[in-house]
Amino acid sequence: MIRIAPSVLSADFAFLAAEAEDVKRAGADLLHFDVMDGEFVPNISMGFPVLKSLRKATDLFLDVHLMVDRPLRYVERFCDAGADLVSVHVEADMAENIAEALSRIRAKGRKAGLVIKPKTPAEAVLPYLDAVDLVLVMTVEPGFGGQSFMPDMLDKVRAIRGWITERALDCALEVDGGVDAVTAPRCIEAGADVLVAGSAVFGKADRAAAIAGIRGIG
Ligand code: DX5
Ligand code: ZN
Repeated sequence: MIRIAPSVLSADFAFLAAEAEDVKRAGADLLHFDVMDGEFVPNISMGFPVLKSLRKATDLFLDVHLMVDRPLRYVERFCDAGADLVSVHVEADMAENIAEALSRIRAKGRKAGLVIKPKTPAEAVLPYLDAVDLVLVMTVEPGFGGQSFMPDMLDKVRAIRGWITERALDCALEVDGGVDAVTAPRCIEAGADVLVAGSAVFGKADRAAAIAGIRGIG
């Protein structure tokens, strides 16, 4: 099953509750929440208080993507603030601390995800594959919405899908960045089953049509 995760980074923050409700009605399967610290990426977005408020406003699954340096410091607080899944970047700390962050997320009863940036090889996820519920392959450089999809990332999606199948793992495979009705079919064909889309959903007046188009039923 293909799941669509609109990224609230492209929503109107003054009306976040209404925006969440709108994409839920339009068929969103989960909501993607981008946290940027101004260190790991050259941008600052939102954090605990916004997530806490959004948690009260929606029952959609909250997929929290931490673009944060040394995320071990914060993962438990994001779980407490209402995340259903927290994903951390493999590049954001040394291996030992990334493994510890993933295990703390699971200890909180939430799902754990691992993210790789465009320049990081697919193999970087291998040591963690048994410890994650989701792998996220960035299809743009993290930091900003509205960038162009990087087709070279599809080979990494294919490789990771191969390992998940080979090991019969219960692990979702997500793509994030530049996903729209044109690039989505290529991601699905390569093996992605969760598609994040910011501007291609929130940037459109008809969100139901936008989500159907990305899902490939538009
Ligand atoms: C980028 C974020 C994305 C962003 C995607 O760093 O991780 O989730 O919101 O935006 P679009 O879909 O517009 O590329
Ligand atoms: Zn994201």
